[in-house]
Amino acid sequence: MRYLDHAATTPMRPAAREAMAPYLGTVFGNPSGIHAVSRRAKNAVEEARERAAALLGAAKPLEIVFTGGGTEADNLAVVGAGIARSGRGVVISAIEHAAVAESARFLGRLGRDVRVVGVDAVGRVAPDAVAEAAGELGDPIVSVMTANNEIGTIEPVAEIVAAVREAAPEAIVHSDAVQAAVSEDVSVRALGADLISVAAHKLGGPKGVGLLYVRDGVELEPVLHGGGQELGRRSGTHDVAGIVGMVAAMEEAMSDRDGFRRRVGAARDIFERTVVDRLGEVVVTVPAEVRLVQHCHLRFVGIDAETLLVKLDMAGIAAAAGSACQSGAIETSHVLRAIGMEATAAGECVRFTFGWPDDEAAGRSAADAVVAVVETLR
Ligand SMILES: Cc1ncc(COP(=O)(O)O)c(C=O)c1O
Repeated sequence: MRYLDHAATTPMRPAAREAMAPYLGTVFGNPSGIHAVSRRAKNAVEEARERAAALLGAAKPLEIVFTGGGTEADNLAVVGAGIARSGRGVVISAIEHAAVAESARFLGRLGRDVRVVGVDAVGRVAPDAVAEAAGELGDPIVSVMTANNEIGTIEPVAEIVAAVREAAPEAIVHSDAVQAAVSEDVSVRALGADLISVAAHKLGGPKGVGLLYVRDGVELEPVLHGGGQELGRRSGTHDVAGIVGMVAAMEEAMSDRDGFRRRVGAARDIFERTVVDRLGEVVVTVPAEVRLVQHCHLRFVGIDAETLLVKLDMAGIAAAAGSACQSGAIETSHVLRAIGMEATAAGECVRFTFGWPDDEAAGRSAADAVVAVVETLR
């Protein structure tokens, strides 16, 4: 199998698996207890929190809230910050992941003002447009992703934060860094946001665990109510192994970001160049300069994406169209609509995403395999 769907999820890094092993075995305590068995688990969670805080450049470990994944981190950010201050509106971009877009819609159903800011033809959000919407709403929750999961566009989050701070000084800014964290600097320093979401399984960690960076002083109403773990911000017994595995994966990813960009970027570049040159009538959706190094989104003119995905699968190639986080059925994506793509063109697009196991040789052989499948279809 050639796995070209790392934006959907990634294989676990061996370092993450090894770090988790004790917590799936002998160190099984509930970190909320007081006896020695619990304390060992609690120490692991708190050490992971310190390391995650250092990796993200947080001022304090307690600015890290562990969650059950990226979706939960996004809900806690948007709904949690929205509910914490009555009456606040919300500003999002038109290409947010459903975890953010549906959270904003939920606030809309509670009577909050929701503004959706459009993007340009490559999926970039204009900082001025976000700032203008934020200024009009008073001091809303603003959520703009660090990079898009479908087309890979990197957003100018630092500029957006600066523009929003000027127009709406009390606004709370969130950025969903779930796709970007494996290859971009998503630290507090780099993004400047008040809230930042990360998911373990997109960077070589386990599924079902994530974190939300919460700037000290930002109030959040919890989404999950219960025993008061995570200073009351996220109740529920910690997934100790998951948290430890996530931080081990983050450590490996973030300490080798340059290596990843070189290796995986080379895989993506040779793949894209080969497919485009050898096949012709292949259109690159977003220029490489504004796109994640691991992302490739292509339109195969005249070829139905769903048919192509089935043929690719039969040839042992795993790729995606639309958003893999949704039902499995391919719908015209809101992201492609937002960049102004017609439905026919959108139905001819496939996403290929590379990850930590890949290198240039993998990219070249993946390209040969994809070219062969497309040639049989033509
Ligand atoms: C940008 C983005 N945000 C959020 C999520 C949801 O994360 P999780 O799968 O951990 O719930 C995803 C997953 O595809 C994503 O790509």
